Amino acid sequence: MLSRISDLIDPSRIDYLLVNHVEMDHSGSLPAAIKAAPKAKIITSPKAKKGLERHYKQDWEYILVNSGDEFNIGSRTLKFVHTPMVHWPDNMVTYIPEQKLLLPNDAFGQHIASAARYDDEIGWDILREEAAKYYANIVFPYGEQVQKALDVVSQLDIDMVGPSHGVVWRSYLPRIIECYRRWAGNESVVKALIVYDTMWGSTQKIALALQAGLEEVGIPVTMRFLQTSHISEVVPDLLESKLVLLGTPTLNNGMLPTMGAFLTYIKGLRPKNRIGFAFGSYGWGGQGAREVAAVLKEMGWELPEETANIPYIPDESELETIKAVGARLGKLILP
Ligand code: FEO
Repeated sequence: MLSRISDLIDPSRIDYLLVNHVEMDHSGSLPAAIKAAPKAKIITSPKAKKGLERHYKQDWEYILVNSGDEFNIGSRTLKFVHTPMVHWPDNMVTYIPEQKLLLPNDAFGQHIASAARYDDEIGWDILREEAAKYYANIVFPYGEQVQKALDVVSQLDIDMVGPSHGVVWRSYLPRIIECYRRWAGNESVVKALIVYDTMWGSTQKIALALQAGLEEVGIPVTMRFLQTSHISEVVPDLLESKLVLLGTPTLNNGMLPTMGAFLTYIKGLRPKNRIGFAFGSYGWGGQGAREVAAVLKEMGWELPEETANIPYIPDESELETIKAVGARLGKLILP
């Protein structure tokens, strides 16, 4: 990066470094940048200054800016808006009116590495998926704060948004803003997500019977098997699905550790307004599926059907009953 910057300007002539966010994926190279640009002052928020001091223990020179402040750097003006908790307390966004450019840091990011610079060079379908994965894993818990930030952003005249992760939005800006409004409002669509793990195949049979019942009434279903899908790949499905069915067998009086990890992760992401269902198989105790149901209840999800817990191996008639449960749950979310 320093070599690319050097193509434009000798780094030792740089006057200012703008820090919108402390987290080390953004600030980790700050010590190297200051070394290359020793006379540069750091423009940042008071909270970020405290965070940078804790991270780097350096006596750097700062220019502290508050929400609504403007700072002229010659041919450009920097306007700052603090956006706490999108994604840490220190986050702010910077707007450059001369270019109608917003630098929103973590907001509108995508975890994508590409030689392309702009959204239309990649295409909406891929970017939408990558932006959803980013939102679900990073920003999901902060829907209220995102809505406030969107209200501020909507008052600005913007041509381009350059997030600190991924490519620059210029052609699909209205579409990604609309997605952020829906995601921040916890709006899901008519879709079911089945997430499960299995020990000897019984919980998988129940999962497949639920899928059959849901599809019979026309609900699109995403199946996620926790032995092959990483939890970060599953949460984008959670972002969109109104109905979420979670299955685990009982192991040593509890749920399988894979389901435990998944539930711990989604509890932190705080998805709201979902309908849940817990299912599983067991040999003698049966605590696994019951524990899952308890966590879903604790998250405030609606649980309209009793937990399905089947000893050892489900038979044909039990699978028919489960299929009917799937169909009933599906009908609940039909428009
Ligand atoms: Fe909150 Fe991209 O760091």
